[in-house]
Amino acid sequence: MKSRVMIAPSILSADFAAMGNAVEKLEKCGADLIHCDVMDGTFVPRITFGSQMVEAVKRHTSLPLDVHLMVVNPAAKIADFAAAGADYITVHAEACGDRLAETLRGIRAAGVKCGAVISPDTPFAAAEGALELCDIFLVMSVYPGLGGQKFIERTLAKAEEAKNAVVRRGLSCLVEIDGGITVENAGRVADAGVDVLVAGNTVFKASDMAATIAALRGGKCGA
Ligand code: DX5
Ligand code: ZN
Repeated sequence: MKSRVMIAPSILSADFAAMGNAVEKLEKCGADLIHCDVMDGTFVPRITFGSQMVEAVKRHTSLPLDVHLMVVNPAAKIADFAAAGADYITVHAEACGDRLAETLRGIRAAGVKCGAVISPDTPFAAAEGALELCDIFLVMSVYPGLGGQKFIERTLAKAEEAKNAVVRRGLSCLVEIDGGITVENAGRVADAGVDVLVAGNTVFKASDMAATIAALRGGKCGA
């Protein structure tokens, strides 16, 4: 029996001037995790926020914080985000290079669940060797750096490839997909075996956030 897919709204699409309210509303509306998109202006052109925002978000929710580091040299940032209250820290294979396994171990050593991220043009094979170390494996279905982009269809096969590898090896690693998730494509993505759907634009643009989160999870969409 497939476990229920989890919804991790991305606060990248929230009103940054009212983040506390946004996070409280996400929890009230049934989100499972809060996806925190940290961008450093170098790994990706945009700068979003740092560990202080994660600390502030932590004060407004009991939900797990899923911190997605779109930064160069992520190993150097682990302690800061661990202290801020991150429950998951995911790091890009493209930013870690041959230090991916070491970086994942560093996250675990800081008492935080760890994960690898691969961008749309990075093959699953580039991070497969670190899968055993992951509590979560994040497949980007848009290019990192912006919310509101269109789902890149070809990335779904990679998410399936990751899930098949997790099942084949009997691992407990969650597979997460991130970017361009809508009420229209969520069912198909969940059917591919994905455990966590990240959705920013779809959730924050919704007139009925609770109904939209339920619809992303495959429930009936409100009225
Ligand atoms: C993009 C971020 C994603 C993005 C998802 O770099 O990692 O989490 O904000 O937002 P939507 O759902 O709007 O594509
Ligand atoms: Zn993200």
